[in-house]
Amino acid sequence: MKRIVLAITGASGSAYGIRTLECLLSADREVHFVVSPMAERVILHETGATLDQHLTGILAAAPEGGSLVRHRYDDLFASVASGSFATEGMIVAPCSMATVAEIASGYAHSLVVRAADVALKERRTLVVVPRETPLSSIHLSNMLKVTEAGGVVLPAMPAFYHRPTHIRDLVDFVVSRILNVFGIEHSLISEWSDDSIEPEE
Ligand SMILES: Cc1cc2nc3c(=O)[nH]c(=O)nc-3n(C[C@H](O)[C@H](O)[C@H](O)COP(=O)(O)O)c2cc1C
Repeated sequence: MKRIVLAITGASGSAYGIRTLECLLSADREVHFVVSPMAERVILHETGATLDQHLTGILAAAPEGGSLVRHRYDDLFASVASGSFATEGMIVAPCSMATVAEIASGYAHSLVVRAADVALKERRTLVVVPRETPLSSIHLSNMLKVTEAGGVVLPAMPAFYHRPTHIRDLVDFVVSRILNVFGIEHSLISEWSDDSIEPEE
């Protein structure tokens, strides 16, 4: 089974991380999951449910193929803290600007940042999904540093050309882009094609 690391941090947009987890399990991944303490609080605030409640629902609905391995935020002895533990890469969704700064500086004090550090040093795919607005020059320069180190900065910027009608559609747009980076098949959003364009009057 393919392994992938997923972290949720304390930026707004916890739904991106929760939906990504559902999709990775559906795609038969062994998901190594780390959540920051602030993320746990933001999840409860934004969704009205605790992380554990979400996980119970997600695992009950998940197909047989995938599996979840949850790691403690402060457990730097965890498998994913070592480059010798092979994975496809890592997703941080959503990624706070605090965590972007830590990844950019290599200050690997938590398992989230250490696992991201490992992905970069091992030249594996690292996707960070920042959400903040407006952006300061500090945010921009940290995102540039992550990009220059080989990471993919994939801002939580849903588009509207697929005519979303529900929040779920906006979330799925961003999650589809995350999955595309790893080449994971999904049916969240239809591919844009010549047939997608309305004929002009
Ligand atoms: C309700 C709420 C929403 C937040 N939204 C954002 C956000 O969108 N982007 C961001 O960079 N920080 C946001 N923050 C601030 C982060 O939670 C804070 O910087 C925290 O230190 C991040 O820690 P972490 O990256 O370890 O989870 C938010 C905080 C709260 C309470």
